[in-house]
Amino acid sequence: MPTVVSGIRSTGNLHLGNYFGAVKNFIEMQHHFDTYFFIADLHSLTTHPVPHHLFGNVKQVLAEYLACGIDPEKATVFIQSDVPEVSELYLLMNMNAYLGELERTTSFKDKARQQPDNVNAGLLTYPVLMAADIIIHKAHLVPVGKDQEQNLEMARTFARRFNRMYNVDLFPIPRPYVFEGQDMVKIPGLDGSGKMGKSEGNAVSLADSPHEIRKKVMKAVTDSGPTEPNQQKPEVIQNLFTLLDVVSKPDVVAHFDLQYNNCSIRYGDLKKQLAEDIIHFTAPIREKIEMLLADDQYLSKVAKLGAEKARASASKTLLEVREVIGVKKFY
Ligand code: TYM
Repeated sequence: MPTVVSGIRSTGNLHLGNYFGAVKNFIEMQHHFDTYFFIADLHSLTTHPVPHHLFGNVKQVLAEYLACGIDPEKATVFIQSDVPEVSELYLLMNMNAYLGELERTTSFKDKARQQPDNVNAGLLTYPVLMAADIIIHKAHLVPVGKDQEQNLEMARTFARRFNRMYNVDLFPIPRPYVFEGQDMVKIPGLDGSGKMGKSEGNAVSLADSPHEIRKKVMKAVTDSGPTEPNQQKPEVIQNLFTLLDVVSKPDVVAHFDLQYNNCSIRYGDLKKQLAEDIIHFTAPIREKIEMLLADDQYLSKVAKLGAEKARASASKTLLEVREVIGVKKFY
């Protein structure tokens, strides 16, 4: 049975981009594949979070995952730092990752620009840790959003390189997973350009209250409106339609599309509808998040069970890797 691995950084609340880019596909997959879903707390160290924030975020994100419908009885749900084998594989894989290719990664260049005073080695080798996360469970499929395409391409490169270097067939070459016939998903933010992101300040979180959602959506950037029938939508407007597409009914999207095309659209109405549809979509998830956050015992049970299952799989692969490389015991 194909194996699936996906993860999320523990840097803040899950937002609509995370849900529609990765979590939604994963939920579908957990019924058909051998699935691993984890919280990448080590990855989030690249931004130097305050320790008690880091811990609090891990708990929050775990509750949010489960609230979305990830089932710990079906999938292996775990926290990255609970599986030390990942860190060892990361170290081993670092030996075959080259400075030039790491420096050329878009996400590294972006981060180096965003945090010029903290361009640490963890940022540079971020794709190596991500590759270790994936290949340690010998994943075939990785449900991720469009923004992770390059990181996943690097994971493919590292897996292929390892197999070639040692003349083995140890790692499957992982593929991004998208529903048939679809492209990788990119959910836009509310600020008119770019993707929805935790650090961009343009996200609607699954845990946001209806009041927060209305406030954020009503502030979304628009333009002065179409001037000619059937004109192409500029990016800021297309972004709002992309959001409508994922949360609203097709007839709602068609209604506003028609209004745009005949130049009668009022963006205020579109935003009001979008806000209500987001609230309708997130309300049951938010309710579950609150319930789960109040149940520490359940969350720790899930994390413990997940850690055990993930370690069993990871330690098996690591042993094989050590054997292949020649890191063997004398006793
Ligand atoms: P992260 O935490 O930024 O995002 C988690 C998942 O959400 C997707 N995503 C989006 N998809 C569409 N539109 C958006 N606006 C959007 N924003 C986020 C991401 O593509 C991702 O799938 N490096 C990863 C975490 C990670 C990982 C892994 C993922 C670490 N190891 C191994 C898969 C496999 C990250 O920072 O995702």
